[in-house]
Amino acid sequence: MTLFFCEKDEMDMETKVIRISSSDPEEELIKAAAALIRDGEIVAFPTETVYGLGADGLNEDAVKKIFHAKGRPQDNPLILHVDSIDMLEQLVMDIPPAARLCMEKFWPGPLTILFRRLEIVPDIITAGLETVAIRMPSHPVALRLISLSGAPIAAPSANSSGKPSPTRAEHVLEDMDGKIPLIIDGGETGVGLESTVLDLTGDKPMILRPGGITLEDVRKFLPNAIVDPALSSSDRDMIPKSPGQKYRHYAPKAQMILVSGESRRVVDEIKRITAEAELKGMKVGIMCCTENKINYYAYRIADMGSLEDKDTIAHNLFHIIRDLDRSKVDLIVCEAVGEDEIGLAIMNRLLKAAGGKVVKV
Ligand code: TXA
Ligand code: MG
Repeated sequence: MTLFFCEKDEMDMETKVIRISSSDPEEELIKAAAALIRDGEIVAFPTETVYGLGADGLNEDAVKKIFHAKGRPQDNPLILHVDSIDMLEQLVMDIPPAARLCMEKFWPGPLTILFRRLEIVPDIITAGLETVAIRMPSHPVALRLISLSGAPIAAPSANSSGKPSPTRAEHVLEDMDGKIPLIIDGGETGVGLESTVLDLTGDKPMILRPGGITLEDVRKFLPNAIVDPALSSSDRDMIPKSPGQKYRHYAPKAQMILVSGESRRVVDEIKRITAEAELKGMKVGIMCCTENKINYYAYRIADMGSLEDKDTIAHNLFHIIRDLDRSKVDLIVCEAVGEDEIGLAIMNRLLKAAGGKVVKV
């Protein structure tokens, strides 16, 4: 257990980072964090997906601090994190059978479910919508923090709005230093992408944001589940049902281009784009699968992981984008991956990071 302080004169607050064991978290450390939450403060903590920026979800003033620290648009609702079905029942009008089934199969874990909300849920959480998004995380630190706080914890990803979600405490510090009092450092998060957001309030179960639980996983229990058609449409009139999906998100400072198609042609196209950009004096970073790495020369080459192991690609994705940004590349060229299983969530994030720029070969 280490404890250190990050001081910056120009900042308004000192951000403390405490290191904690993820598998067997030190109770005293979580108690201190829970005391801050109960006091109406915000605390960054690890979950199995990405780091969250947590506040007491029933305390409107505390939740306002989250929006302020992230620079988050007010019309983007937050997820409430619960530690038990009891806590869930205090927040929602009912638990439909399909929701019960998903909770049984996937909770605790990276699945967020929309429920019809009760009045107790503040408007600031739902951005005025009739539904509230709720999940029970599986990370021991997250679960214990909720229990010791004694309240549902509202937590978006702990990045500045528009930046890639944080998968390490150092990413949180990059974005939140001086803005929040405490970061609980539980090491790297597992999944590396955010939870799946599932809407069970319409005609068909609909995934509004692909994530840690895949469409294939959900279909094992809800065979008629679909993905919000607006996510794969180029029709600008189709508005995603999840407000967060309409923003450019996960965006690196560098320009980013995705290249998709048959593997050999993808490699050739990326080499071509790289050569052309280098002629203009640009520094290029290439994001590729392990299998293709030997084909490239560039200022930076980032190995996302084997095509055979998309879970590893998901785990590495946001760290790689942040890392390339830190090395000040001007252009990121990235191989697309297949959209099966977690690939759908990977491509959703990559498309947003690239602002929709895809070259198909
Ligand atoms: O894995 C995760 O879900 C992480 C960790 C910290 O739990 N949290 C997270 O929160 O990704 P955030 O705020 O970055 O993303 C929440 C997404 C947004 O796209 C938001 O628009 C959507 O969930 N959302 C929240 N409430 C909603 C609602 N009532 N209806 C539709 N979408 C909703
Ligand atoms: Mg987010």
